[in-house]
This record gives sequence, structure tokens and C-alpha cells, in this order.
Amino acid sequence: MPKLLLRDLRQVVSPSGRDAPLRGRALGDLDWIDDGYILCDGDRIAEVGRMRDLAPLGGEVEELNGRGRCAIPGLVDCHTHAAFGGDRVDEFSLRAAGASYEELHAAGGGILATVAATRAAGEAGLSRAVERHRGWMLRAGTTTFEAKSGYGLDRDTELASLRAIAAAGGIPTWLGAHAVPPEHEDGDAYLDFLLAEVLPDAAELAEAADVFLERGAFDANQARRYLEACRAAGLALRLHGDQFTEAGAIPLAVELGARSVDHLEATGTAGARTLAESDVVGVLLPVSALFLDRPMPPARTLVDAGAAVALATDFNPGSAFCESLPLVCSLAATQLGLSPAEALGACTVNAAHVLGRADRLGRLAAGYAADVTLLDAPDWRYLAYHLGGPVVSGVVKDGAVAW
Ligand code: NIG
Ligand code: FE
Repeated sequence: MPKLLLRDLRQVVSPSGRDAPLRGRALGDLDWIDDGYILCDGDRIAEVGRMRDLAPLGGEVEELNGRGRCAIPGLVDCHTHAAFGGDRVDEFSLRAAGASYEELHAAGGGILATVAATRAAGEAGLSRAVERHRGWMLRAGTTTFEAKSGYGLDRDTELASLRAIAAAGGIPTWLGAHAVPPEHEDGDAYLDFLLAEVLPDAAELAEAADVFLERGAFDANQARRYLEACRAAGLALRLHGDQFTEAGAIPLAVELGARSVDHLEATGTAGARTLAESDVVGVLLPVSALFLDRPMPPARTLVDAGAAVALATDFNPGSAFCESLPLVCSLAATQLGLSPAEALGACTVNAAHVLGRADRLGRLAAGYAADVTLLDAPDWRYLAYHLGGPVVSGVVKDGAVAW
């Protein structure tokens, strides 16, 4: 593989340092080079510097002209539900006419509607769907994505979802405990099945386990049972928590040493304090809050209290049909009270930390993965500023030009 030189970049911008996760003021600290270059050697970054300091390069070097463009680390989406069949556009219209997300879920629509479509898709159909979604993410500047199962809820479809995610290059999370499917009497009976019949194989395919701890889904006792069994099987732990109600997700996440607790739209002062004092990352999903017309999570309070926060899309057909981390950054700056620099740290280094990869993803520095997102902009902050615009103009993944 020849070296790849990204040259004459207007700005090269990266979260500073080597630490992860970034907290407090460090979340917005940047290394910022005007008129810079990035030299990739294989799938790693060899050098980042100023054009005037670029020494003559020997050997075969492919060049990419970065004139007029800014470079940021390849974006990392640490929370998606990209493995699904069908869509929920009818439900979207019903919600636009006044129906609530929770009402539709209770009436057997919502997540369970996607479960039926996902089971019907088959493994080949699911693989095609995840590939398609991966392509959308790449166009939006995402070079690494996590994706959850959770729309199969039977053995075959859960395992097929995890395989489809891995085949598309995603990082698989087992969300077996997403909802109780109709063939099981209640949550406890469903967990009996999941832990006996699915966990042993899911633990071979996934890196982490996730649970939807919420009224109408799984309660704190059920979540604890599921997560403890998953941890014993070697999986890292994550939780969907405080989306609609505070039902004990943050204390449970802290107690179990989870990697993250995600959503937090309903988190109050005490929960924010508990999270801030812990090693658990709060993953904020402002598109989901926007899409469901819910309150935004208390991002500013969390960051100021010293919590580690990440940003992600929550891409899924029901609550967040959006794969764009640039749009998430726009929402972070306009709705969450974060600066563009804090938003960048949250969807690069801190997201990589949630995925256990902060030692090689999320920064533009020697030794890190040669994953670069190029912005067609005179200033990198257009990432958040150009709301909904075509700001991403190219992506390098593993040292190769992806588009
Ligand atoms: O993170 N809240 C639970 N799960 C997903 C939504 C799933 C769906 O509506 O299909 C979420 O928002
Ligand atoms: Fe989610």
C-alpha cells in the first residue's frame, strides 16, 4: 500500500493529548494547524504537520489535494440500531398527527413493528440493509460505527443481526433486551429464554450488551439480571436509560461498571451528579430527542460537573431516522449548549472510548488510525455551523480514499 499524503489542508483539527475519556474543559481542547498535511502510512497516521515543515518524501506516495478543505478525525458513531428491516414512515406520519411514541409502542407498533419486518428480511436482506446504512454513514463522515441487534428478539434473527453488523464492518452490540416479543409471556420469561438460548452465541459475536431500562420495557431488576449474565460471559455493558423516566439506570450502570448509559433526556440533578463522579460515559442522542419532541438531555450540566459525555446518532427507524453526526454536532451547538470543539471531542475520542478503541481512533496524530473526514469549508466549525448542509466532502478510511 503506497503512502497517502493529504496536502494543503486549510485546517487540520483534532482533540488534544492522548487521554480518554475527555472531561470538563479538556473536552474542548484542540490541536489546530493552519495550512497542514497528514501523511498516512498503511492504515496508520505517520505524521501531522504544517506544509512548510513537510520534508521531501521518498518511495511511492499518492497525493490528495486538500486545498479549501479542513480535516478532522473520522467520526465515530458509538450508538446506532442499523440492523433492521422495513421502515416506520407510517408511524412517523401518525406521530406528526399527534400520536405519542409510547402509545404506539404500547399498541404493538413501535419497536415490535420493526421486529416483524426484521424477522421477515432474512439474513441476506439484513446484510443488505446494514451495508446500505453503512454507506449512508460513510457519506456523512462516519468512519467507525457501532450497531445493535434488538429487532430480532428471537435466536436466529438476533444472531443474524450481529453477523450482518460485523460483515459490514460495524462493531456489534447485543441488545437482546430491547422489548418483550409477543411469543413470551412477560419480561422474566423472555430473559429466561435469552440467557439460556441466545447469550452463549451472542457473546461470541458481540463486544457489548445493551438493555432498554424503561417503563414498558425492562425494569432495573431485570436489567441487572441480564447485564450480570452478559458481563459473566465477557461482554462490556451499556444501557439505554432515563429516556422517558428515571428508573435507576445511572446507579445500575455505575454499580456494574458499564461503559455507558445512553439517552438521559429525563436525567435530573442527582443522576447527573452520580454520573459525573463515575467512569461511565453519558451518551447523548439529541436527534432522538428532536425526532420524538422530547426534552434535550442536560449536556451542559453534565460536562460542567465533570461527566464524560459522547454524542451519537441513535440511527434507527423509529426514534431517530438520521445517520448524520454533523447534524448531531449542529444540535449539540444549538440545543445542548456545547461548543463545536466539545461536540467534536464527544463524537471522536469519547465515542471511541465507549467502544474501547480510544488508543487508536478519534484523533489526528501519529500512530492513530488513518481515518480522516474532510470538510468542504473555510473553517472546521462548519461541521456544526452548516446545519443540514453538504459539509462532508470526502473520507479516508484505513489510509485509503473511501470517497
Ligand atoms: O434508542 N429506546 C429504545 N430504542 C431505540 C428506539 C427503537 C425504535 O423506536 O425502534 C432508541 O431510541
Ligand atoms: Fe438507541
